[in-house]
Amino acid sequence: MKFFADTADTKDIRDLADAGLLDGVTTNPSLIHKAGRNFLEVVKEISDIVPGMPVSAEVVALDYETMMKEAEVVRKIADNIAVKVPLTIDGLKTCKALTDDGTMVNVTLCFSANQALLAAKAGATFVSPFVGRHDDVGFDGMDLIEDIRLIYDNYDFDTQILVASVRHPVHILQAAKIGADVMTAPPAVIRQLVKHPLTDKGIEGFLSDWAKTGQTIG
Ligand code: E4P
Repeated sequence: MKFFADTADTKDIRDLADAGLLDGVTTNPSLIHKAGRNFLEVVKEISDIVPGMPVSAEVVALDYETMMKEAEVVRKIADNIAVKVPLTIDGLKTCKALTDDGTMVNVTLCFSANQALLAAKAGATFVSPFVGRHDDVGFDGMDLIEDIRLIYDNYDFDTQILVASVRHPVHILQAAKIGADVMTAPPAVIRQLVKHPLTDKGIEGFLSDWAKTGQTIG
């Protein structure tokens, strides 16, 4: 499963990329607001940090014509931009036009398997089902991922399932078990994956015994 960082914080992106943990980045208008940066500038900087890896940048218009105009600006930033469009009829129309033109598209705000089916039919590179927001309203977001996986496999769709709105390590574990193609998570959640009390205890024990040897390395 590919790991994308769900952030517009370039320091975090650099840090995770240096550890070899990143395969791409996703942003959205709320994350751009949180970063307090100019949208086009920060997306360019992110694209340079992870060259060749998909970087999702979202258009904000709701009608096809304006979405296409915004997509023109966004996709010129770098070759690795995936234009992010909402799961609406105009968004799907934009998806089809951009895909036909060789641009990666991430269809976002997916909350049902039928919506994911539409995204695949429109040729999306990625579909983003939001598991955390689904959980928030009393549904199991992972049931949605299972349904989409089944449907995409039934028909050999190429669209990649990008599990979004990830809130904790268990979401990542479940996404990997189901066979999602990609997950995107806040950097803090990706860092949580490394934590295990037995790892910490093991390090403590080894260092304590090493100190008793009186030796140094090098
Ligand atoms: C990513 O593409 C989504 O925009 C993001 O994961 C949404 O996460 P949230 O529900 O925590 O805002």
